[in-house]
Amino acid sequence: MSDKAWGGRFGSGPDQVLDAFSRSLPLDVRLLPYDLAGSAAHVAMLLRQGILPSQDGERILEGLLALSRQAEEGPLPLGEADEDVHLAVERLLTERIGEAALRMHAGRSRNDQVAVDLRLYVRALAHDTMDGLTRVMAALLSRAEAAFAAGILLPGYTHLQRAQPILLAHHLLAHWEALDRDRDRLADLARRANRSPLGAAALAGSSLPLDPKYTAQLLGFDDVCANSLDAVADRDFLAEFLSFAALTGIHLSRLAEEGILWTTAEFAFAELEDWAAFGSSLMPQKKNPEAFEHVRGRSGRLVCLWAGFMTTLKGLPLAYDSDLQESHYALYAAVDTLLPMLAATEKLLLALRFARVRMREAAADPLLLATDLADDLVRAGVPFRTAHRQVGELVGEAVRRGVPLSSLDPDTVAAHAPSLPLRRLSELSPEAAVAARLGPGGTAPERVRQALEAAQLRLAPPPLPPRPPSVAEVLQTRMALVRASR
Ligand code: ARG
Repeated sequence: MSDKAWGGRFGSGPDQVLDAFSRSLPLDVRLLPYDLAGSAAHVAMLLRQGILPSQDGERILEGLLALSRQAEEGPLPLGEADEDVHLAVERLLTERIGEAALRMHAGRSRNDQVAVDLRLYVRALAHDTMDGLTRVMAALLSRAEAAFAAGILLPGYTHLQRAQPILLAHHLLAHWEALDRDRDRLADLARRANRSPLGAAALAGSSLPLDPKYTAQLLGFDDVCANSLDAVADRDFLAEFLSFAALTGIHLSRLAEEGILWTTAEFAFAELEDWAAFGSSLMPQKKNPEAFEHVRGRSGRLVCLWAGFMTTLKGLPLAYDSDLQESHYALYAAVDTLLPMLAATEKLLLALRFARVRMREAAADPLLLATDLADDLVRAGVPFRTAHRQVGELVGEAVRRGVPLSSLDPDTVAAHAPSLPLRRLSELSPEAAVAARLGPGGTAPERVRQALEAAQLRLAPPPLPPRPPSVAEVLQTRMALVRASR
């Protein structure tokens, strides 16, 4: 006979190679605290429903509490023989409290159990990731506030060609907005994930009189899953987390790319503090933005994890399939990639020394003010397309003659753009161009000041479902509910 927990019908245990191949314990040890808490909630429910004799039930709860305390001190003795975290917990509990442990799994399957563990884990990760994102946003905001106070201007780019002058604070806040949307997506997916699959059992629900709403309440879920098959088959919350992580990674990568570009000799818009740069083993002069490159590079991994997991899900028949075990790998790898990327980005943002003079020089190229001249012509009644052509001709003349647009002679200006007030050319300045962009979301100092104030107010993260409870907290909630019902 097989000595597996499920071995009754088997003449032998699985082949060693296949057994090792199928084990998930090395991956799912991370689920241990959530598995213990989920089990405590399940057993508390079995007790309340009279499904477990109360003495055995209480012993199981004490055993789970002891295991969770032990796990907080150091790693539990999980071994080669354990197939996955769920069976490992059952084994440890049996070793600790004996026969009573054999009653724990009534009305439950590893299918709803692993789904509950993963949902609780995603709740914990949502908090850690939200904190990391908010720290990056706070760093961006502090740099933006300082850049605003110093009045730093730089060229804004399209197609990586100089386009129009903008405030550095405005540019930094653009990255801030992208990360704020990421926080929103995270809060949204965490809310959607916060339903309890317990009670679905293997796939069809249980014939025992379970109370899934009660387990959900003990674990801090908003509700129970509406369909038992979906409860065990659904990994959308992981697909959403991975997609969130991939997009956040791409936002960090785009930010990193600018850190890399700006610190080149060609741009020279910024320099990294020595403590944030790396050198070459060969070339003594090198100062490389390698941590920025790692942020940019690692974002590819996040996209891969998302795409890989989507491929795993595709075509899986309802309800549970072992393919779903792959989700653990994707989730852990994504978290282990994203959290350090956030921590590194926060540091790197604080390590950039902006080259204010150099940025102002680049922004002061009069060609960047061509649009302002076209707008002047529009104000003088010239149709925009005509204005665009006329100013384009002036730009062409200036470029051919190799002179700044602002020093074209009055005759040339009058010949190409007769409606352009001549003094406008001498009045051109990047500061004036920036100040004129007063529309909502624009780069005028007035607007950017408001945007900075609004960002301060919006810096607090959106609300999340609570962090997952420990076994002790599940038991506290249980007592509180008993007291409240008296
Ligand atoms: N180790 C499994 C997983 O991670 C747990 C569920 C297993 N269920 C089963 N019937 N083998 O998905």
